[in-house]
Amino acid sequence: MATESNLAHTEQPNAGRRDFLYVATAAVGAVGVGAAVWPLINQLNPDASVLAMASTEFDLSSVAEGSSVTIKWRGSPVFVRHRTQAEIDEARAVPLNELKDPATDESRVKEGHAQYLVMVALCTHLGCVPVGDAGEFGGWLCPCHGSQFDTAGRIRKGPAPTNLVVPPYQFLSDTVIQIG
Ligand code: FES
Repeated sequence: MATESNLAHTEQPNAGRRDFLYVATAAVGAVGVGAAVWPLINQLNPDASVLAMASTEFDLSSVAEGSSVTIKWRGSPVFVRHRTQAEIDEARAVPLNELKDPATDESRVKEGHAQYLVMVALCTHLGCVPVGDAGEFGGWLCPCHGSQFDTAGRIRKGPAPTNLVVPPYQFLSDTVIQIG
Protein backbone atom coordinates (compact mmCIF):
# COMPACT_ATOMS: atom_id res chain seq x y z
CA MET A 1 0.00 0.00 0.00
CA ALA A 2 1.39 3.35 -0.95
CA THR A 3 2.19 5.78 1.77
CA GLU A 4 1.87 9.52 1.36
CA SER A 5 5.57 9.83 0.80
CA ASN A 6 5.44 6.98 -1.74
CA LEU A 7 2.63 8.76 -3.62
CA ALA A 8 4.64 11.92 -3.69
CA HIS A 9 7.48 9.92 -5.17
CA THR A 10 5.30 8.23 -7.78
CA GLU A 11 3.50 11.43 -8.84
CA GLN A 12 6.58 13.61 -9.00
CA PRO A 13 8.12 11.88 -12.04
CA ASN A 14 4.74 11.95 -13.88
CA ALA A 15 4.36 15.63 -13.23
CA GLY A 16 7.90 16.17 -14.44
CA ARG A 17 7.21 14.20 -17.64
CA ARG A 18 4.07 16.25 -18.27
CA ASP A 19 6.06 19.44 -17.82
CA PHE A 20 8.68 18.12 -20.18
CA LEU A 21 6.06 17.13 -22.75
CA TYR A 22 4.45 20.55 -22.46
CA VAL A 23 7.76 22.33 -22.89
CA ALA A 24 8.70 20.09 -25.81
CA THR A 25 5.33 20.70 -27.50
CA ALA A 26 5.62 24.44 -27.01
CA ALA A 27 9.10 24.39 -28.52
CA VAL A 28 7.94 22.40 -31.55
CA GLY A 29 5.02 24.81 -31.87
CA ALA A 30 7.36 27.80 -31.88
CA VAL A 31 9.62 26.20 -34.46
CA GLY A 32 6.58 25.26 -36.56
CA VAL A 33 5.20 28.80 -36.55
CA GLY A 34 8.66 30.19 -37.25
CA ALA A 35 9.10 27.85 -40.18
CA ALA A 36 5.70 28.84 -41.59
CA VAL A 37 6.21 32.58 -41.16
CA TRP A 38 9.76 32.76 -42.55
CA PRO A 39 8.88 31.93 -46.17
CA LEU A 40 6.16 34.59 -46.06
CA ILE A 41 8.53 37.25 -44.72
CA ASN A 42 11.15 36.09 -47.17
CA GLN A 43 8.72 36.49 -50.06
CA LEU A 44 7.95 40.04 -49.06
CA ASN A 45 11.64 41.02 -49.12
CA PRO A 46 13.13 41.46 -52.60
CA ASP A 47 15.95 39.00 -53.08
CA ALA A 48 19.41 40.57 -52.95
CA SER A 49 20.11 39.40 -56.50
CA VAL A 50 16.92 41.11 -57.71
CA LEU A 51 17.97 44.35 -56.05
CA ALA A 52 21.39 44.05 -57.62
CA MET A 53 19.85 43.59 -61.05
CA ALA A 54 17.51 46.56 -60.70
CA SER A 55 20.46 48.87 -61.18
CA THR A 56 23.89 48.22 -62.57
CA GLU A 57 27.03 50.28 -62.03
CA PHE A 58 29.64 50.26 -64.75
CA ASP A 59 33.07 51.83 -65.03
CA LEU A 60 33.38 53.38 -68.50
CA SER A 61 37.15 53.75 -68.27
CA SER A 62 37.49 50.13 -69.38
CA VAL A 63 35.93 50.91 -72.78
CA ALA A 64 38.52 52.18 -75.26
CA GLU A 65 37.56 54.89 -77.76
CA GLY A 66 36.05 53.34 -80.86
CA SER A 67 34.99 50.16 -79.09
CA SER A 68 31.89 48.80 -77.39
CA VAL A 69 31.10 46.41 -74.60
CA THR A 70 27.89 44.61 -73.80
CA ILE A 71 26.85 44.50 -70.17
CA LYS A 72 23.76 43.10 -68.52
CA TRP A 73 20.98 45.08 -66.86
CA ARG A 74 17.74 43.53 -65.60
CA GLY A 75 18.47 40.45 -67.66
CA SER A 76 18.86 42.39 -70.92
CA PRO A 77 22.06 43.13 -72.81
CA VAL A 78 23.08 46.79 -72.91
CA PHE A 79 25.59 48.28 -75.36
CA VAL A 80 28.05 50.81 -74.02
CA ARG A 81 29.89 52.44 -76.90
CA HIS A 82 32.78 54.85 -76.53
CA ARG A 83 32.28 56.85 -79.70
CA THR A 84 34.96 58.60 -81.70
CA GLN A 85 34.58 62.29 -82.54
CA ALA A 86 33.92 61.27 -86.16
CA GLU A 87 30.98 59.10 -85.06
CA ILE A 88 29.53 61.93 -82.99
CA ASP A 89 29.96 64.41 -85.87
CA GLU A 90 28.34 61.99 -88.30
CA ALA A 91 25.32 61.50 -86.03
CA ARG A 92 24.92 65.24 -85.48
CA ALA A 93 25.09 66.05 -89.19
CA VAL A 94 21.96 64.02 -90.03
CA PRO A 95 18.88 66.21 -90.67
CA LEU A 96 16.01 65.15 -88.38
CA ASN A 97 13.62 64.93 -91.31
CA GLU A 98 15.65 62.02 -92.66
CA LEU A 99 14.93 59.98 -89.57
CA LYS A 100 12.10 57.48 -89.16
CA ASP A 101 12.08 58.08 -85.39
CA PRO A 102 13.40 61.63 -85.15
CA ALA A 103 15.70 62.27 -82.20
CA THR A 104 18.76 64.47 -81.94
CA ASP A 105 22.06 62.87 -81.06
CA GLU A 106 22.22 65.20 -78.07
CA SER A 107 18.98 63.78 -76.69
CA ARG A 108 20.42 60.27 -76.68
CA VAL A 109 23.53 60.97 -74.60
CA LYS A 110 24.31 62.80 -71.39
CA GLU A 111 25.50 66.41 -71.65
CA GLY A 112 29.27 66.59 -71.41
CA HIS A 113 29.59 62.85 -72.10
CA ALA A 114 28.65 62.68 -75.78
CA GLN A 115 31.35 60.10 -76.39
CA TYR A 116 29.38 57.48 -74.44
CA LEU A 117 26.30 55.93 -75.98
CA VAL A 118 24.32 53.56 -73.75
CA MET A 119 21.47 51.55 -75.29
CA VAL A 120 19.45 48.42 -74.65
CA ALA A 121 20.96 45.96 -77.12
CA LEU A 122 17.67 44.63 -78.48
CA CYS A 123 16.38 45.45 -81.92
CA THR A 124 13.08 47.32 -81.68
CA HIS A 125 11.62 45.13 -84.44
CA LEU A 126 11.48 41.70 -82.82
CA GLY A 127 14.20 41.80 -80.21
CA CYS A 128 17.30 40.32 -81.85
CA VAL A 129 20.70 41.59 -80.72
CA PRO A 130 22.17 43.86 -83.42
CA VAL A 131 25.80 43.56 -84.49
CA GLY A 132 28.05 46.57 -83.94
CA ASP A 133 30.34 48.32 -86.45
CA ALA A 134 28.12 47.10 -89.24
CA GLY A 135 25.64 48.34 -91.81
CA GLU A 136 25.56 51.37 -94.08
CA PHE A 137 25.39 53.92 -91.28
CA GLY A 138 28.45 52.97 -89.25
CA GLY A 139 26.39 51.80 -86.29
CA TRP A 140 24.54 48.52 -85.82
CA LEU A 141 22.98 45.96 -88.12
CA CYS A 142 20.32 43.55 -86.96
CA PRO A 143 21.07 40.09 -88.36
CA CYS A 144 17.44 38.95 -88.20
CA HIS A 145 15.68 41.17 -90.73
CA GLY A 146 18.31 43.73 -91.65
CA SER A 147 17.40 46.81 -89.62
CA GLN A 148 20.23 49.32 -89.60
CA PHE A 149 21.02 51.85 -86.90
CA ASP A 150 23.37 54.82 -87.08
CA THR A 151 26.13 55.95 -84.72
CA ALA A 152 23.48 57.31 -82.35
CA GLY A 153 21.53 54.04 -82.43
CA ARG A 154 18.72 55.57 -84.48
CA ILE A 155 16.80 53.44 -86.94
CA ARG A 156 17.82 54.33 -90.49
CA LYS A 157 16.76 51.38 -92.61
CA GLY A 158 14.74 48.17 -92.28
CA PRO A 159 11.64 47.10 -90.39
CA ALA A 160 12.50 48.28 -86.84
CA PRO A 161 9.95 51.01 -86.02
CA THR A 162 11.97 52.96 -83.47
CA ASN A 163 15.49 53.80 -82.34
CA LEU A 164 17.41 51.50 -80.00
CA VAL A 165 16.22 52.32 -76.50
CA VAL A 166 18.35 54.45 -74.21
CA PRO A 167 17.76 53.14 -70.68
CA PRO A 168 17.53 55.43 -67.67
CA TYR A 169 21.04 56.03 -66.35
CA GLN A 170 23.14 58.62 -64.61
CA PHE A 171 26.77 59.46 -64.09
CA LEU A 172 27.90 58.77 -60.54
CA SER A 173 31.34 60.19 -61.32
CA ASP A 174 33.29 61.14 -64.46
CA THR A 175 33.66 57.51 -65.44
CA VAL A 176 31.08 55.49 -63.52
CA ILE A 177 27.47 55.21 -64.62
CA GLN A 178 24.52 53.65 -62.87
CA ILE A 179 21.89 52.13 -65.15
CA GLY A 180 18.41 51.84 -63.70
S1 FES B 1 14.50 41.72 -85.09
FE1 FES B 1 15.86 43.19 -85.89
S2 FES B 1 15.19 43.54 -87.87
FE2 FES B 1 13.78 42.10 -87.09
